[in-house]
Amino acid sequence: MITWNQRENGVVVLTLDDPGASANTMSEAFVAALAATVDRLEAERDGIAGVVLTSAKKTFFAGGNLEELVRQGPDDRADVLAEVRRIAALLRRLERLGRPVVAAVNGTALGGGLELTLACHHRVVLDDDALRLGFPEVTLGLLPGAGGVVRSVRLLGLATALTELLLSGKRLRAGVALKLGLVDEVATDPEDLLAKAEKWIAENPDAAQPFDRPGYKVPGGTPSSPALAAMLPVFPATLVKQLKGAAYPAPRSIVAAAVEGLQVDVDTAFEIEHRYFVELACGQISSNMVQALWFDLNTVNSGARRPADVPQRPVTKAAVIGAGMMGGGIAHVLAEAGVPVVLKDVDAAAAQRAKDRTAAQLEREVARGRRASEGASAVLGRLTPTGDYADLAGCDLVIEAVFEDPSLKHDVFTALDGVVAPDALLASNTSTLPITGLAQSVSRPEDFIGLHFFSPVERMPLVEIIVGEKTGKVALARAYDVVRALGKTPIVVNDSRGFFTSRVFTTLVLEGAALLGEGMPPMSVERAALQVGFPAGPLTLMDEVSLSLMLAIAATEDGDVQERSGGRHPGFAVVEALAGHGGAGRRGKASGGGFFDWRPEGEGGKRVWPGLSDLYPEDPGAVPIGQAAERMLTVMAVESTRCLAEGVVLSVEDANVGSILGIGFPAMYGGALQYIEQYQGPSGRGVPAFVAHADALADAHGERFRPPRMLRELTSLRETPPS
Ligand code: NAI
Repeated sequence: MITWNQRENGVVVLTLDDPGASANTMSEAFVAALAATVDRLEAERDGIAGVVLTSAKKTFFAGGNLEELVRQGPDDRADVLAEVRRIAALLRRLERLGRPVVAAVNGTALGGGLELTLACHHRVVLDDDALRLGFPEVTLGLLPGAGGVVRSVRLLGLATALTELLLSGKRLRAGVALKLGLVDEVATDPEDLLAKAEKWIAENPDAAQPFDRPGYKVPGGTPSSPALAAMLPVFPATLVKQLKGAAYPAPRSIVAAAVEGLQVDVDTAFEIEHRYFVELACGQISSNMVQALWFDLNTVNSGARRPADVPQRPVTKAAVIGAGMMGGGIAHVLAEAGVPVVLKDVDAAAAQRAKDRTAAQLEREVARGRRASEGASAVLGRLTPTGDYADLAGCDLVIEAVFEDPSLKHDVFTALDGVVAPDALLASNTSTLPITGLAQSVSRPEDFIGLHFFSPVERMPLVEIIVGEKTGKVALARAYDVVRALGKTPIVVNDSRGFFTSRVFTTLVLEGAALLGEGMPPMSVERAALQVGFPAGPLTLMDEVSLSLMLAIAATEDGDVQERSGGRHPGFAVVEALAGHGGAGRRGKASGGGFFDWRPEGEGGKRVWPGLSDLYPEDPGAVPIGQAAERMLTVMAVESTRCLAEGVVLSVEDANVGSILGIGFPAMYGGALQYIEQYQGPSGRGVPAFVAHADALADAHGERFRPPRMLRELTSLRETPPS
């Protein structure tokens, strides 16, 4: 687990290597080995010149043991506290050994791995493009509890530690970490890494942590210093803005542990940090987030849905048809992944405009120092705008992103059928149209598939792959590989109107409309959603996707929705009244306004349209905010179980990951199906309690809340065999 190799110069090189695992983690066995190693270091201290910590794995150290964490509940507080104290005490003994200890960081160090390096007196990292350092804990509802908060705050200063590391969860490259002072030196290769570590040991025989030396001053000051005192109120205010009022506890606990810790001695600060950690680790929110954004996400990305017997075949040249908002973004991410792309619109000038937008975006990134200008030029060099189908010759991947009009899409696929490579993968980025119908436009429906990207393409991590009735397994495997090559997460779903994500998203925004129709003031509707962690309110979201799209769904999907929901959704009438208001209608943000007037930030920003209260008279007592939020979460969860029961979405993991990454279902509930799994109601917990709750909502507000039969037969959704 930890090999001990004492060299002639007296330096002990400790190599971390968990024999049974692909990466080192804070497993029970590792902690035991660390304890034995620290005992031995103390016993043999007189014969030791210094210590180098390095790893035999590609990753230096992956972090905490999430398997264990996800199972911990409120009753485990005492055990969790004892365990984190045990690890922290070992790290403290290491840094107080009285001998220089250097971390020779040969690969990525995250979470517990970075905590380990911070307990060393000096950090040398390998200059490797793939190497990352960071505390991703906040993204899983946690904080680094074995000294990570205290040491990073004392070494970097409060403001830097919070914004660059602890609250952002960012994974930093070696160069950035060096600039921040998180690491001390960068080495060119593994030999240089060890040489630098040993040289530092020779030059610093009496090393100690700076904060253990008398008179140490924390960079940037302590909360009692005027400069920092003036800044302190900014952190909670920034948090409120970032979290939009949602009840995510980790960022607040991180700020509290950091600020409180600075006002006491270092050992008391560690104890404060452990206690905040224990509260988070034993709470439901971190369990939900670890389950969805670690375990479920890893399952989805592991390739379980990719037909294993189809060999990989990289794309050599791609075509993107329709250079609008989506097409421009898709072409950009393909070019970033190294694929040459022909970008076609109605004419070359329209396609060139999309390339110009990408160029402007890249220029901004170069100007901000986020990337090298050569890299940006190479990306642009791979984008060829055109208005001519002939330029698509030889393309082995086609992604269509023209207007959402079935006959236009049909014309496009007919036109390119004979031009591109004879076995090219043919994909549509439609957000609602069934893939099986679109596939009728081509001579090879087995090569036709849906690749549903989300906006903005460059930033959104999810792609929904839609398998039509005739889609073959080669097409599925190739589509899966394309999405992974773009660094995105693919969920694979079966064809259905609206697939999985758009179907579930629609239930959220229509619920918002229904609440407005019942008299709930518009800002209360929005607040209800933000408070439980949605990134935006349903009325804002409808304005952004456009009310025309909602009308199109009302016109085409109405029959399905009615069948499923036992009647016309009351939200449709609300949307229709607004969209048809005064003849011209209010159709959303792009067409001048919808529920809101959208003015630039400097001119007042987003404001509720004053005419809204005439259309829907307000009754502030109509629906309490908490109830409204529950209705939004519940209706999405129920629709997700319908998708699971109908075989549209194939697993709990896909549904959780797809709902969080694609449509902003609050991560603190772990996704639309984990919401059911962890539901706590008056009648108890889990699926049966959720069913009782949803039934009560259905009786009061309509059949859209009625859970499908499948859910009544289960105690846990994770029992369902994948269909
Ligand atoms: P957009 O209106 O920004 O772009 C459509 C582009 O297609 C325009 O540049 C237009 O000139 C071009 N076009 C029209 N006819 C063409 C033809 N015959 N040949 C080549 N180009 C042609 O639309 P947007 O938002 O990019 O949507 C495109 C597709 O992506 C639609 O199917 C939409 O449903 C889908 N989608 C949209 C999302 C969104 O958030 N806007 C999200 C996911 C999918």
